[in-house]
Amino acid sequence: MAVLQWWQTAVFYQIYPRSFADGNGDGIGDFIGMAQRLDYLKDLGVDALWLSPHFPSPQYDVGYDITDYTGVAPEYGTLDDFRRFLDGAHERGLRVILDLVLNHTSHLHPWFVESRSSRDNPKRDWYVWHPGRDGGLPNNWYSLFGGPAWELDPATGEYYYHMFLKEQPDLNWRNPEVKAAMWDAVRFWLDLGVDGYRLDAIGTVYEAADLRDHRSPITQEELRQAALTVDPNATNQWLRDAWKLMYSEQLEQDGVHALMQTNRLTPAWIRDNQRQRLAALPPGAWPCNTLGNHDTTRVYTRFADGAHDEALARLSLALILTLPGTPFLYNGEEIGMADYFLDDIRLFRDPPAIRLYEAAIAEGTPADTALRLAAQHSRDRCRTPMQWADAPNAGFSPAGVTTWLPVNPEYAPPPAGRGVSVAGQAADPGSMLSFYRALLRLRRDAPALVAGDYQPVAVERDDVFAFVRGGNNGHPACLVALNLTPLGVTADLSEAGPAACGLFLTTLGQRECEQDLTAFSLAPHGIYIGALTA
Ligand code: BGC
Repeated sequence: MAVLQWWQTAVFYQIYPRSFADGNGDGIGDFIGMAQRLDYLKDLGVDALWLSPHFPSPQYDVGYDITDYTGVAPEYGTLDDFRRFLDGAHERGLRVILDLVLNHTSHLHPWFVESRSSRDNPKRDWYVWHPGRDGGLPNNWYSLFGGPAWELDPATGEYYYHMFLKEQPDLNWRNPEVKAAMWDAVRFWLDLGVDGYRLDAIGTVYEAADLRDHRSPITQEELRQAALTVDPNATNQWLRDAWKLMYSEQLEQDGVHALMQTNRLTPAWIRDNQRQRLAALPPGAWPCNTLGNHDTTRVYTRFADGAHDEALARLSLALILTLPGTPFLYNGEEIGMADYFLDDIRLFRDPPAIRLYEAAIAEGTPADTALRLAAQHSRDRCRTPMQWADAPNAGFSPAGVTTWLPVNPEYAPPPAGRGVSVAGQAADPGSMLSFYRALLRLRRDAPALVAGDYQPVAVERDDVFAFVRGGNNGHPACLVALNLTPLGVTADLSEAGPAACGLFLTTLGQRECEQDLTAFSLAPHGIYIGALTA
């Protein structure tokens, strides 16, 4: 196997800057706070940090609407604060990647302000403008955030295209000036020393050139899933250009990310998902695994069944750290943070959720039903402040400060909460945080889990998901067996080899060697990771 790059062996941890750590006590996370938590992150055992956007933004889409690609939003600090954070991360051996929002800018970005100022402005063609068809919209495309994807600009009488909010006009990537300007911004951060980028909304960068109507009978919600309005060939070429700029002119590789999304942890589903995702990867591409981020329900809530929530969250981590690919964790999941449903529409910050609420009310839905609906769909549910301690505001901000989103009260010890805080779990060997640390350490000590081939075993089982990660360079192959049911099971895993030596087990004693694999027992929701012995 070829020598792996750092981003192939690393475990990434996503920081949502607004909610991670409030260093100046104003209720909003910032770089001073992030720098103060670097030792925590190092100790947790992750290798690289991905920051959601930290750039100046009017916050229509919580930072994914940028007005200055080479700046730092004042509420997060200064460029010097950023540098101190970056240097601190590097001193600890942690890499840092940024979020590259390229599909669109803020409508308040100077480029768009110029572009909309007149039809013949030199930046007119930096965005996607259209005079409209038959006196109406240019086509039947919808915004991913709801409503038509075109907004009429009364001053110049043309429509501009926005895949997301109307405050996020799409850039025209077919214009070489756009590419050059954006590449300059990319270089700015690379020159400062950042290690790479997460590419935001990458599938939507290029619109189909002829802006044709989509002819699908599917609903708007289904359309969100299907990238019917994008040009995949142009997108792939774009990825190759970006890849070369970031890593090296020589490196020929597609920066393919394949996300794993599921609401069900069943062996059949995972096997099938793995098969499809790995088969779809072009040669030389590398998968990336994530189960939660700032857009989705938190993993703790996603897999919860009301009875075994904690065990299911642990299984999801075991899965993501042992399957082939680069794992991405989301801040707060290491302490088992759950979704928090807001109960007052005035507290909401996520625009699509507010829109959903308003639309439901306009349709005559009772206010409490509309609120519940919006709360369940709102991305605010997974963006609440990090819970550092059993203290006012969960230690995120000082007592008495109103945080930008409310703190989830689960931080308090039972019975008031679930004890979901860093300080509350740090010293407890049985806590979720200790489990994360242990599993991250194990992954580091077992190279087969990072680099080995993937071979499912006992594929007939509908209760156990088991697979081998092949050994290499003198490292033993690893057997991973996960019992995804609440009952104890015994499985014949001898297909993997005659015996294994336990490296990590939820119920058996640690490091029990020479376990017979013909009748292998796993406790309810048991996790087993073992080194195969000859
Ligand atoms: C981001 C979202 C954002 C959208 C538009 C997605 O990839 O993860 O948070 O709303 O792009 O920028």
